[in-house]
Amino acid sequence: MMKMKIPETIPNKNKDLENNDECYTPEYAIIPLLPYLKKEWKIWDCAFGSGRLAENFKKNGFEIIGNDNLNFFDENLDCDFICTNPPYSKKDEFLERAFNIGKPFAFLLPTKALGEKKRNFLYRKFGIQLIIPDRRINFEIPSKKKAPWFHTSWFCYKMNLPKDLNFVEINP
Ligand SMILES: C[S@@+](CC[C@H](N)C(=O)[O-])C[C@H]1O[C@@H](n2cnc3c(N)ncnc32)[C@H](O)[C@@H]1O
Repeated sequence: MMKMKIPETIPNKNKDLENNDECYTPEYAIIPLLPYLKKEWKIWDCAFGSGRLAENFKKNGFEIIGNDNLNFFDENLDCDFICTNPPYSKKDEFLERAFNIGKPFAFLLPTKALGEKKRNFLYRKFGIQLIIPDRRINFEIPSKKKAPWFHTSWFCYKMNLPKDLNFVEINP
């Protein structure tokens, strides 16, 4: 009898989108964060990329530092708050690095990034609060035409949000 070849992984046509490290953050995504930020804060985008998120903060009157040549794992810039949309292939590493730096931070991550062993350990050790939008954020993805199929939330540390889970409306 002929044996059927079983693929090692089930192909997921959307997987490459979620793993895409180059997805840039539109302005409306930062609006729910703004009430929790102080205007005098210096914000470090530690995964700067094309600078899209940085532009959005600048438009809203914030000083933003960082550039695309800096490696987050080698730098510790003088700032009050770290904010980025990290490369999703390095979620755990970015979270661990940010927790160890110890400054307030907000990372825009797939909402399901609440799970998994390593992250669970970090959240138990340091704590985490979420801002959860009522719809998916439509990133700008240079290599793809498609909108992301996954939902993202702001994963916040030391931001003193009113609740651990903060459900918000956003207006694209
Ligand atoms: C999802 S994009 C976000 C870009 C921008 N922050 C935004 O939100 O529009 C993530 C960026 O992280 C950059 N990146 C990857 N590894 C990095 C590292 N170790 N240190 C700093 N940036 C890194 C990638 O080049 C990519 O441009």
